[in-house]
Amino acid sequence: MISANRLTKAYGDFLAIEDLSFDIEGNTVVGFLGANGAGKSTTMRILACYLPPTSGSARVAGFDCFTQSMQVRQALGYLPESVPLYTDMRVEEYLRYMAQLKDVPARQRTLAIDRVLETCRIAPRRRKAISTLSKGFRQRVGLAATLIHDPKVLILDEPTVGLDPVEIRETRQMIRGLAEQHTVLLSTHILPEVQQICGRVIIIRGGRILANAAIDELVREQSNQFVDVTASAPSTDALVDAMRGIAGVDAVDAADDDVPNEPRCRLRIAADHDARSAISGTLVERGWSCLALEPSRETLEDIYVRLTETEKVV
Ligand SMILES: Nc1ncnc2c1ncn2[C@@H]1O[C@H](COP(=O)(O)OP(=O)(O)O)[C@@H](O)[C@H]1O
Ligand SMILES: [Mg+2]
Repeated sequence: MISANRLTKAYGDFLAIEDLSFDIEGNTVVGFLGANGAGKSTTMRILACYLPPTSGSARVAGFDCFTQSMQVRQALGYLPESVPLYTDMRVEEYLRYMAQLKDVPARQRTLAIDRVLETCRIAPRRRKAISTLSKGFRQRVGLAATLIHDPKVLILDEPTVGLDPVEIRETRQMIRGLAEQHTVLLSTHILPEVQQICGRVIIIRGGRILANAAIDELVREQSNQFVDVTASAPSTDALVDAMRGIAGVDAVDAADDDVPNEPRCRLRIAADHDARSAISGTLVERGWSCLALEPSRETLEDIYVRLTETEKVV
C-alpha cells in the first residue's frame, strides 16, 4: 500500500533523508518515530506528493508518487503537521469545500460529510465556526477533511501534538478505529500511544532507518532485561563481584537506593537469556540468602531512546 524505495531528499548540501526503503501492507497502523529533525515530515510529504525526492521513488496504493500524483492524491488522505484550516468557515461548510477540492461527486458530498462528521465525532458541532473550536476539535475537523474522499491510505503527521490527555485519548481511539479499514502511517512522539495502536514501527534517525519491525518482535529481540538482586551478602561490593561472574550477565551495577544490611544490585542480562537459576545458584554457593529477585524489561520507549541516542544500526 505504501512503498518507499531508496528515497533521498537533499536541501542544498544537507541530506534530510537518505536511502529510505520500507513497505507497508494491509489494514494497520505503522508508527513512524524519530527525534525532531529526523526526517519524518520530509518522508511523509514525499509520499503525499507535496515534495519531489532528490532520488529514489515511492508508491501509494500501487501508483507512483511522482508520475501518477493525481491517482495517489485520490487514494491518500494526508494530515500535515500544521493543519491548514479556514477558521472563518463553519465545519460543514469547510468539509463541503474540501469535498469539492477532492473531486467527491456533487451528489455524494452530503453523504461523505455525514460519514466523516460521524467518524470524527464532530456532528454536534457541524454548524460551528472553526475559529470557535478547541484545538482538539480543530484537529478532528482536519482529520475529517483528510477522510472526506474516503481514501484507503492515511498519512498522519503528529496528529496529537498540542492536544490535552483527554483529546489525545480520543484521537488515539479514532485512529485505532480507522486502522480496521485503512493503511495508516502515523508519526508521533508518544511512545505509549505507539505501543497501544501500532503493529509495527519504523524508527529513523538522521534520515536513515534504525529499525523497521513488529513491536513485539522489536521488544523481544532488542530489549535488555534486568534483574534486581537483593541478598544477605556481607557488602554490596561482594554481591556485585559475585554476580559479575555469571554467564549471560552483561553488566552489574550497585543499586543507588541501597537499604542498610540489604545489599542490592541491578544485573543487565543478554536478550533471550534466563539467568535466574544461575543467580540463585551463585547466592547458595556463597551461603547468602536471596531476599529478592525482581526481573524487568526495557519498554519500547527505552529501546527507542537507546537506538536513537547511539550509533548502532539495527
Ligand atoms: N525546506 C527545508 N529546507 C531546508 N531544510 C529543511 C527543510 N525542511 C526540513 N529541513 C531539514 O530537514 C531535516 C528533517 O526535517 P523534517 O523532515 O521536518 O523532520 P521531522 O519531521 O522528523 O522533525 C531537519 O534537519 C530540517 O531542519
Ligand atoms: Mg515533522
